Amino acid sequence: MRYFPIFVDLEGREVLIVGGGEKALQKLRLLAKSTARIRLVATEFDAGILALSREPAVTLTRRSFVPSDLAGAAMVFAAADDTAVNSQVALAAKAQGIPHNVVDGPAESSFITPAIVDRSPVVVAIGTEGSAPVLAREIKAKIEAWLPANLGRVAEGAMALRRRVQEALTDPVARRRLWETLLHGAWRSSVLRGEAAAAEREFERQLQAAQLEVKPAGSVALIGCGPGDPDLLTLKAQQRLQEADVLVVDRLVNPAILEYARRDAQRIDAGKEPEGPSAAQDDINHILVREALKGQRVARLKGGDAFVFGRAAEEMAAVRAAGIPVEVIPGITAAHACAAGIGLPLTLRQKVRQFAVVTGASADGAFDLDWAALAKPGQAFAIYMGVRSASRFRDKLLAAGAGPQTVVVIVENGSLASERVIATELSRLGRAIEDLGVKGPAIIFVGLDWAAAGLSPPERLELYEPASADEARHVERRLAPQG
Ligand SMILES: C[S@@+](CC[C@H](N)C(=O)[O-])C[C@H]1O[C@@H](n2cnc3c(N)ncnc32)[C@H](O)[C@@H]1O
Repeated sequence: MRYFPIFVDLEGREVLIVGGGEKALQKLRLLAKSTARIRLVATEFDAGILALSREPAVTLTRRSFVPSDLAGAAMVFAAADDTAVNSQVALAAKAQGIPHNVVDGPAESSFITPAIVDRSPVVVAIGTEGSAPVLAREIKAKIEAWLPANLGRVAEGAMALRRRVQEALTDPVARRRLWETLLHGAWRSSVLRGEAAAAEREFERQLQAAQLEVKPAGSVALIGCGPGDPDLLTLKAQQRLQEADVLVVDRLVNPAILEYARRDAQRIDAGKEPEGPSAAQDDINHILVREALKGQRVARLKGGDAFVFGRAAEEMAAVRAAGIPVEVIPGITAAHACAAGIGLPLTLRQKVRQFAVVTGASADGAFDLDWAALAKPGQAFAIYMGVRSASRFRDKLLAAGAGPQTVVVIVENGSLASERVIATELSRLGRAIEDLGVKGPAIIFVGLDWAAAGLSPPERLELYEPASADEARHVERRLAPQG
């Protein structure tokens, strides 16, 4: 982040605009929304500027810019049509340590202005550091459409009530909860509709309820955070993240997902290495219960879906046993995300009628899957936590009668920028993982391939080379769409 966003208090301060044409008018329109005093300096002014100069906060000085014009200015916009004048303004401002913006001249500027969504006092500033103004406009349009036009009323209403809430509720957690109830519920709707009496009644009702609640009740949300890409979070997961007082975070949860949480939420790292000591699970259960009993809303962030190899059952049981409400928010499991990312259907009409998820890790080290069923033609499955045990999978499946040439697709770091996709045959599974340095997390798909679905593999596919040219041709044929 080269440009750090801040909001500058312009109440009663003077802002200088040098220029009298269209560019200066654009800046004037923007600044006229602020409470600054605005002075324009130019030899001539357009009709639009003359019209706006009737506002009491705007004054015009009809002559060329001189460096002493900067005296007392909080900032200056060099918006003349003559670039030499703008450079002169920038140099003078730099010499006097005054923040300066040259229109269309970021290299000469000490600050740049963002695209703005104005719902004063709620203001959203969007910047791309000048890299893609079109993107900023697109984001602005989306936010404009999303925020109610009179959202500012809600913020003003909240501001007016802030002091009463502060005095009525001493507990900061209770205060925050009251605000969440007001800002997400009936109070906000009434304010947006302009129904002042209804809003007042609702505020009194909610304030009384908050005062009566001796201690807020804690809760736990087991949140499936998907495979890594934050765009794959559900809306409900985003909501629970925003509400949470405490985050208990797993190893495979992408740190970018924590951006959806409140900045002041406490973060507890519950990362476990693969096949790590199971005692850690008891510690995690203990943390969930301990924090919820304090009255905190605990978000337990898990990779993928909490119910797929996520040990959610143990956590739910421990939390319920302590009499604490627990909610499960589904997430996109790694197999689904990886398959979608590489365009590999998990079932196929008439060809693949069963799809299973299996794991290469177990608490007691046993490797007791139904190998005969998994080895049957037409059976497809995804192996979780199978990188270390890939060779054992190969041996067990081959021994149970699976075809050595069954297609195997490995997706490492699915949905992330570092994603890798590798295809090979079952007989080469262990070696492929070793030779290509797959470390995981990875999903290993067995019994699925693009050709059977009439599709092509993704361009970035790495084909693990079989030993001979003949074998290589065979694998390529198997992966290409048929007919
Ligand atoms: C403890 S399990 C958790 C699974 C998770 N609950 C889910 O639904 O995806 C961890 C395994 O999930 C798989 N996994 C998780 N994230 C992945 C990713 N981004 N790409 C590929 N596999 C992933 C790997 O097999 C990893 O060893």
